[in-house]
Amino acid sequence: MQQITIRDALQQSSRDIDDIDARILLQYALDVSHAHLIAHAEQVLDSKQAQSFRLLTTRRARGEPVAYLTGKREFYSLGFTVTPAVLIPRPETELLVDMALALIPPDLPWKILDLGTGSGAIALAIAKHRPLTDISAVDFSANALTVAKTNACELGVKNVRFIEADWFDGFNGEIFNLIVSNPPYIADGDPHLTRGDLRFEPRMALAAEGEALDCIRSIIAAAPTHLVEDGALLLEHGYDQAEACRRLLSEAGFKRVFSRPDLAGIMRVSGGALDIA
Ligand SMILES: C[S@@+](CC[C@H](N)C(=O)[O-])C[C@H]1O[C@@H](n2cnc3c(N)ncnc32)[C@H](O)[C@@H]1O
Repeated sequence: MQQITIRDALQQSSRDIDDIDARILLQYALDVSHAHLIAHAEQVLDSKQAQSFRLLTTRRARGEPVAYLTGKREFYSLGFTVTPAVLIPRPETELLVDMALALIPPDLPWKILDLGTGSGAIALAIAKHRPLTDISAVDFSANALTVAKTNACELGVKNVRFIEADWFDGFNGEIFNLIVSNPPYIADGDPHLTRGDLRFEPRMALAAEGEALDCIRSIIAAAPTHLVEDGALLLEHGYDQAEACRRLLSEAGFKRVFSRPDLAGIMRVSGGALDIA
């Protein structure tokens, strides 16, 4: 069998896949760092490594997301295990974590609810930075919760409990200081769902049944009865949903309603707080 070096492998794969993807997949196949690939460009791959990299390249060329191929994705500078059971955490969702951390006092044991936790990205990033909080993380996908629990273990997080439920079901009478959510917000028939990485991600993590705003509407409507009297709600939403979200928040009785843009300048998170009566 023809021998190939790290340099050859990267060159050959660049015909079929993006250079950065090739580099990440080769690191994964060889279990080495980026620095190693640069410093040892003439290293010859053994047959198992060469075969594994070829297979990964083929799967990537067919569209499978890199994060599902390597089983890893960084979010908020933390390493998360991801499988096709969970949405791959997005960089824009870090805004929601930033905004939650800005609200949560580091020295108080706030109760927090993360609705639609998926890999646990939001709940676990908050938990890591606010160890005194008591966080409940909900998803209706048992398979997603298995991944989230793995992440909690791997990150050494102890202050998050995971609950299988349909949004607020099972929280009768329980109230929180802050509710956060990145719910499905793409309309069921949206053509984006049939393109790129989205084709491989769980449909129930991306698409709201019926109208795109259905999940957001349900969460906003029920949130006030699950918040303390000055509690707050923060929601991630689609690029064109900020105005509708603010209207729904105001109609539900939230005050100081606002939207914030992500790094790309797209309105990405909306929220509001209840007033002390
Ligand atoms: C957009 S993903 C967000 C995942 C994760 N929070 C993140 O930001 O990467 C939405 C999540 O909501 C969950 N979900 C959808 N409908 C739900 C419902 N009715 N009750 C609970 N979870 C739900 C999905 O299973 C999915 O994990």
